[in-house]
Amino acid sequence: MKNIVPHTFSITKAQRSKQMGHAPLLMWFTGLSGSGKSTIANAVEQMLFKKNIHTYTLDGDNVRKGLNNNLSFSPEDRAENIRRIGEVANLMVDAGLVVLAAFVSPYAKDRAAIKNTVGHTNFIEIFVNTPIATCERRDVKGLYAKARAGEIKNFTGINAPYEAPVAPDIQINTVETSVEEAVVQILQYIEPKLHSYG
Ligand code: ADX
Repeated sequence: MKNIVPHTFSITKAQRSKQMGHAPLLMWFTGLSGSGKSTIANAVEQMLFKKNIHTYTLDGDNVRKGLNNNLSFSPEDRAENIRRIGEVANLMVDAGLVVLAAFVSPYAKDRAAIKNTVGHTNFIEIFVNTPIATCERRDVKGLYAKARAGEIKNFTGINAPYEAPVAPDIQINTVETSVEEAVVQILQYIEPKLHSYG
């Protein structure tokens, strides 16, 4: 960018992660609204916290109340939503944290862009794969009923697309897997990555 000259700071990402005692990571939970992303992320964070891992959770409904409260659910605004969150998560990863991000993030292109920003070694894509029929039956927030009634336009899975990850690092089949089992599955996958910093 014109007239912007980044300053080089003395303390490195590697030094910060050494002081933290673990590698930084971004665990990116994607899936339909009501698929269980935030529930699983919350349970994973609790387990990591108990192990003295430094964590932070970013979640769609919360971030859209603050940083991204000027964004709609149009494809362009969703892309901007995910871009900003990717940049925030990248700063947190640079600071040495294990970040759990739970966003519908329906477009494969936007998710791929985050992986590029954060770096492939630090990024874990977790597909919370709950069929739309199940999400709709649960309808925890009542939004599927509203979308079916035509009160919400661009609702993911009803009248807006969801591009499922083709090769996620982890896939949670929530129909067959309990939250506790999902936590075990995720922790097993990230354990070696948490200790491979340098
Ligand atoms: S994303 O598509 O831009 O990644 P994000 O995760 O931030 O979405 O927000 C999704 C949450 O916003 C849903 O869990 C739901 O509660 C709410 N929401 C409101 N309108 C919509 C919509 N049109 N499509 C999807 N989710 C919506």
